[in-house]
Amino acid sequence: MTYGTRTDHYPATSKLLHWLVAACVLTTAPVAIAMGRVSEGPLQNALYNLHKSLGVLILVLMILRLINRFVVGAPIPDPDIEPWQKTVSSAVHGLLYVMLLAMAVVGYIANSAYGAATPFFGLFDLPAVVGKNEDLANQLFAVHRWTGFFLIGLVLMHVGAALYHHFIRSDNVLKRMLPRAMGGY
Ligand code: HEM
Ligand code: HEM
Repeated sequence: MTYGTRTDHYPATSKLLHWLVAACVLTTAPVAIAMGRVSEGPLQNALYNLHKSLGVLILVLMILRLINRFVVGAPIPDPDIEPWQKTVSSAVHGLLYVMLLAMAVVGYIANSAYGAATPFFGLFDLPAVVGKNEDLANQLFAVHRWTGFFLIGLVLMHVGAALYHHFIRSDNVLKRMLPRAMGGY
């Protein structure tokens, strides 16, 4: 679905959700990489708790984002963009939606199967979604890790493309997603 016939900007709700999710992903991914590599202790616990809390927040935001996308749609691509770029960009956007939702769900199920708590920013713990099962936890964590690295690759591609459009092609692609207060449309 497209946002009318507009090409100039994303709806305000889409911009807000995009940048909130971006901030969470750009924080939780490095935290995930660090948390398994620091020594056991309070710092490691805090990093795990932050990673899980941000993951749950991403899940909630992505569900809202999916609903928002179906309700308000997205602006049609700029007509000057080459057809192959439009195809690659829609594919990457679709994959980002699917992978973020899948990663958060798999992380939550794996964590429950491991028998660990799922805290939400120290406010409360979420209930376990499956019973304790260490084999299942190990398999799902392996999936979670590898899809995590694939997701980081996709995000780097996505950010690289946005910067390429803005600084090299000097077109409006980044401005369509920026808040007005930051020079967006
Ligand atoms: C979209 C959200 C998420 C992203 C992008 C993400 C990303 C990652 C990545 C990249 C790793 C691998 C780190 C490494 O091996 O160096 C990881 C590990 C882990 N994640 Fe997530 N995660 C997300 C959501 C969650 C959620 C919701 C939970 C639990 C409630 C969770 C729990 C864990 C745990 C416990 C590990 C360590 C697994 C292990 O020891 O092998 N993650 N995550
Ligand atoms: C880590 C985090 C990020 C994720 C998961 C992400 C995900 C997405 C998704 C799914 C879309 C499709 C729009 C929609 O329908 O909601 C999108 C669009 C966009 N993103 Fe990101 N994004 C991230 C970070 C960034 C960053 C850091 C930049 C800028 C440097 C950026 C620039 C853009 C732009 C310009 C668009 C609009 C493209 C168009 O006009 O079609 N994103 N992003």
